Amino acid sequence: MALLEATGLRKSYGQSVIFEGIDLQLAAGELVALLGESGSGKSTLLNCLAGLDTLDAGRVLLAGADLTVMNDSQRALLRRAQLGFVFQAFHVLPHLNVADNVGLPLLLLRRPDPARVAEMLAAVGLEGLGQRLPRQLSGGQLQRVAIARALVHKPALVLADEPTGNLDARHAGAVLDLLLAQVRQQGSACLLVTHSERAAERADRCLKLDDQGLNLDPADDRSPPPRSSHVY
Ligand SMILES: Nc1ncnc2c1ncn2[C@@H]1O[C@H](COP(=O)(O)OP(=O)(O)OP(=O)(O)O)[C@@H](O)[C@H]1O
Ligand SMILES: [Mg+2]
Repeated sequence: MALLEATGLRKSYGQSVIFEGIDLQLAAGELVALLGESGSGKSTLLNCLAGLDTLDAGRVLLAGADLTVMNDSQRALLRRAQLGFVFQAFHVLPHLNVADNVGLPLLLLRRPDPARVAEMLAAVGLEGLGQRLPRQLSGGQLQRVAIARALVHKPALVLADEPTGNLDARHAGAVLDLLLAQVRQQGSACLLVTHSERAAERADRCLKLDDQGLNLDPADDRSPPPRSSHVY
């Protein structure tokens, strides 16, 4: 069974159709890069897969549970347990210190674990900075806080929306390496929106979102042929 199985997704804002006929399957532990031009709907798709935005049509199964028939609180519980999200804009909570930001998913699961928080801070190179407030950090450090928070509870699925989009090339490479190493080490599946070739090279598959839908990236010659016409 796929960890994430989305079928027939359609999303519009008013008259404008952002995507339709989208099918996507992610196996446990699989790393998939999601490419596409600005405005093609990558962030919208991630939000819909996480149940943070509504769909016009389609079904999203996460770990066998259908997000699209749940109410908001059921969706929130499923997200907490199964999902880590790295947002395009970091979305750290400004009034919580770094350690509390990273520990928040564990707190919401009623599994507070300061040792695990310390372990994640060390893993992303932020040891000793746990007591700082977000405004006392650089952009690269904030991005690492966001990554630590997405991974701290060892979610089955990590959705990462251009996690290095706000960083210069040198820091972007380092932060990406870190995210991918952690994801691989924990065995989490990851759908990674990225413009970085380096990230795409390291993914198991590259998909491209455009007005033809979601398809194997034609530029990625490692991709195996699709098993059926629409399901990747
Ligand atoms: N809440 C909204 N209301 C109306 N239109 C929206 C809304 N959110 C996004 N859009 C539109 O949907 C389209 C897709 O946006 P989205 O943010 O998903 O693109 P993206 O592929 O993530 O782009 P980028 O690479 O720039 O982040 C854009 O045309 C955007 O203007
Ligand atoms: Mg986006």
